[in-house]
Parts: sequence; C-alpha cells; structure tokens
Amino acid sequence: MRYQNWLEKNIADLSNKTYVITGASDGIGLFSALQLASRGAHIIMASRNEAKNQKAMERIYRDVPHAKLTYVHYDQSSFTHIDAFVKTMKQHHPKVDGVLLNAGIIMPPKDQMTPEGFPLTTGVNAINVYYLLREWLGFLDQHNQEVKLVFVGSYSSYNTRLNDLEELLNPRLSRMQQYAKSKLALAMFHHVFQMNLNLFDFPVLDHIHALLVHPGLASTNITHSLPNSLAKFVNGWIRFWSQDAEAGALSLTYAMGHPFTVNGSFYGPNGPGERFGYPKKLTLRPHFSQGSAKFTYALGKYLKKEFSHVRSE
Ligand SMILES: NC(=O)c1ccc[n+]([C@@H]2O[C@H](COP(=O)([O-])OP(=O)(O)OC[C@H]3O[C@@H](n4cnc5c(N)ncnc54)[C@H](OP(=O)(O)O)[C@@H]3O)[C@@H](O)[C@H]2O)c1
Repeated sequence: MRYQNWLEKNIADLSNKTYVITGASDGIGLFSALQLASRGAHIIMASRNEAKNQKAMERIYRDVPHAKLTYVHYDQSSFTHIDAFVKTMKQHHPKVDGVLLNAGIIMPPKDQMTPEGFPLTTGVNAINVYYLLREWLGFLDQHNQEVKLVFVGSYSSYNTRLNDLEELLNPRLSRMQQYAKSKLALAMFHHVFQMNLNLFDFPVLDHIHALLVHPGLASTNITHSLPNSLAKFVNGWIRFWSQDAEAGALSLTYAMGHPFTVNGSFYGPNGPGERFGYPKKLTLRPHFSQGSAKFTYALGKYLKKEFSHVRSE
C-alpha cells in the first residue's frame, strides 16, 4: 500500500474509532477511507450510489483485507435524503468519533437545482452541509465524548469573498464562483464551530472539534461535469503538475487521524502553491472568519423561515 510508512508514523492506532466519510465512493474520500481503515478505524462510507460504493469497498479490501467498512446511503442533494441518513445514523450508529465532510461537486450545468431550489453546487457543497449539521450535531454531541468535524475546503476559497447570504444565493454567480463561495462557506462554518459561537437553531455543543483541510489539486472524477474533452485535459494537467487522489487524501487523513490535530486547525499540502505534498498546518485566512458569525446566523434564520416544516425528528 502506498504511504504505509508515513501512515504508521503519523496516524494513530484507530482501532476504537468510528469515522463517517461523506462521498467515500470515489476520489480523495475513497482513499482517505482506505488510509484511515489501514490504521484500524471503522469507516462508515456515506455515499449515494451503493453499487459504486461496493466497488470502492473492494478497492479498499485489496490493500486492507481486514478493513472495517459499513455502507450507509447518503445523498447530499436534498434535505429529504439527509433526513433519512440522519435517522439511520441516530438509530444504528450513535457512536461516531469523526465526520469527514468530503462530498462535493464542481460546475454542474447552471440550471441544475436541488429540490429546495438552490443551485446544485451551492446546495450540495454548502447549504446542505449546514443542514446536515443542524439536524445531527446536537445528537452527536450528546452521545460522544469527542467528535472531530473535518470540513473539506478548497484553495479556490482563498480568492473569493462572502459578505452576506445573498452573495451565496446570487443567481448571477458563475459556476466557478458558486464553487469557490460554497467552499468559503465551509471555511466559515469551520470558524463558527471551532469558536463554539452561538448559532441560530443549534443547541450548545460541548464535544465538537472543527478542523478544516484542503487537498491541494488532485486528479479525480470531480471534473465529470465538464465537457469530456475538457475533463480529460484538466485531469491530465493536474496529474502532471500535481497529484492523484491517493496523495490528495493525505491531508484529510492527517486531520482526522493524527493524534494531536486539534479544534480550529487547518491543513493542506506542503508543496509549491499548496498544490501537492504531505500535510502541513496552514494559516487560516482572515476572510474565513470575517463576517462568518453573521453569515451563518443569517443562513440558520433563512432555513428556519423558508423550511420550517422540514425537520428530521
Ligand atoms: N480534486 C481536487 O483537486 C479538489 C481540490 C479541492 C477540493 N476538493 C474537494 O474534495 C472533495 C472530494 O472531491 P474529489 O476530487 O475526490 O471528487 P470525486 O472523485 O468526484 O468524489 C466526490 C465524492 O462526492 C460524492 N458526491 C457528489 N455529490 C454527492 C451527493 N449529492 N451526495 C453524496 N455524495 C455526493 C461523489 O459521489 P459519486 O461517486 O456518487 O459521484 C464522490 O464520492 C470535494 O468536496 C471537492 O470539492 C477536491
């Protein structure tokens, strides 16, 4: 298995840990599942496509024959699907030591919307992550001693800004802006959870540790929404200049599995331009926190007002 020495040196013995990984059927989520499982963790693979997830499990068993893997259906594209997932998790898997919030998409056609009416990228990557946490985090906090929440951001969030909720929901955003702002929203969620700020419609949380990562650039299937020839070109370019999915997973694995990664920290690759490399601690950008409380509070209020009939309990 690649990185075995590094994993043994940097990742704790995780034999008594259970981690949930959203979007574990492919890409860096799949390889993070493999790497954490290789250190003994029980991985709950929260994925939307069972057949595809089965193949992902087979890939993991190839390198880690005794991996402890469980599949739970998870589709981040609608509140209804998230409700079903949260219900299953509360009933069958109350003990969770960490959640790797990895599922994400980039640049689907602009007219694709979530059933709640959000542009698909904004909904899947940001708003529905917030909704998942609103529905689940209080329960996790009550039933566990310590829960690591690892938000998977992107360095596309370095060069954008989010001054208010309207800016995230602006229908005139380009597809790339939707992606970058959705990832900045995750960085802002990271800030409010790590500071344990008063959040609208959330209970007080005592056991949550929020961490942020970005994987650099990794050649994965995330480009599948791009026209075929462009996806091939982009992936070829990334592979040449950067890394594959297995290498891209290292920052995620490190944030979750290193024994001393703590609330509030941010990790990404140590190579040039943070494109590739082994994980290192990064500096949080000022705009990840500026206005994050106001933004998150506004989102909470908006969801409560527009979707008050929707609650998973
Ligand atoms: N690759 C990069 O260079 C890069 C850079 C920065 C950040 N990231 C972030 O890293 C994360 C993983 O991306 P990746 O590059 O590994 O892409 P990927 O290979 O396309 O994997 C994405 C995963 O998310 C899942 N997913 C997508 N929509 C979902 C939904 N509605 N519900 C549940 N799961 C869903 C996919 O499921 P299916 O298998 O069913 O499609 C897949 O398992 C994303 O959040 C991405 O934004 C990636």
